Amino acid sequence: MKIFIDSANIRLIDSFMGMGIVDGVTTNPSLLAKENSDPTVQVKKILKLVPGHVSIEVVSTEYEKMVREATAISRLGRNAVAKIPMTKDGMRAVRTLSNAGVKTNVTLIFSSAQAILAAKAGATYASPFIGRLDDIGTNGMELARDIISIYRNYSIKTKVLVASIRNPMHVIDAAKAGADVVTLPPEILSLMFSHPLTDSGLKKFLLDWSGLAAKFKKWF
Ligand code: G3P
Repeated sequence: MKIFIDSANIRLIDSFMGMGIVDGVTTNPSLLAKENSDPTVQVKKILKLVPGHVSIEVVSTEYEKMVREATAISRLGRNAVAKIPMTKDGMRAVRTLSNAGVKTNVTLIFSSAQAILAAKAGATYASPFIGRLDDIGTNGMELARDIISIYRNYSIKTKVLVASIRNPMHVIDAAKAGADVVTLPPEILSLMFSHPLTDSGLKKFLLDWSGLAAKFKKWF
C-alpha cells in the first residue's frame, strides 16, 4: 500500500522525506488556502520535492474549464495528477483527460455508485473520503472495502486512494482491506511512529548502556 501525505505544507512534507515512506502527496483547495501563499509556486515546490504522484485539484466546475485547468496542472510536472470532483461535468472531463493521457484523481467520493462511475470514466485514482462519512455516523471504511472488492471483481485498473483518514487504525484497516493508497495528514503519519513501549524500551537500553560506557571508553 502506498502512503501519500495529505498536506500542502512544504516543511511538514519535507520532514518525512528521506525515510522512503512517502510515495506521494494529495492537496486540495482547503489545504492550499491554509498555506496562504501563491498556490502555483506552492504546488511547483511540492512537485519538485516529492518524486511520486502529487494530486492538485481543479477549482472550475464546468467541463471545458476543468479540462483546460487539469491540462495546465498536468504540465506542471510528470508526477502531477489532476484532482477532479465527482460530478457529471467532472466525469466527462476525466474521460477526455484520460484519453489524452492525463492522470486523474476523482475526489469527494461517498458511495460505491460514484466509485463505479469514476472507474468507468477512466480515473487513475478514486478517493473515498472515509473520515467524513464516519463524522456523520456512517461506516467510512465499509465504503472503502466495498469499492476495493467491486474493482477487484472486474480487474479495474483505477486505484483506490483512501482519503480523509482520521487515525492510525484507519491506515491499518485500509491496508487489511487491500487499498492501493492511503493519504493521511502529517499528524496521523507522526502518530504511526509512536509506541510507549518503544520509548520506554529505548530509554532502558540507553540507561543500561551508560553504566557500561562509564567503565569501557572504547566504542565506535
Ligand atoms: O484531501 C482529501 C481528504 O483527505 C480530506 O480530508 O480531513 O478534510 O476530511 P478531510
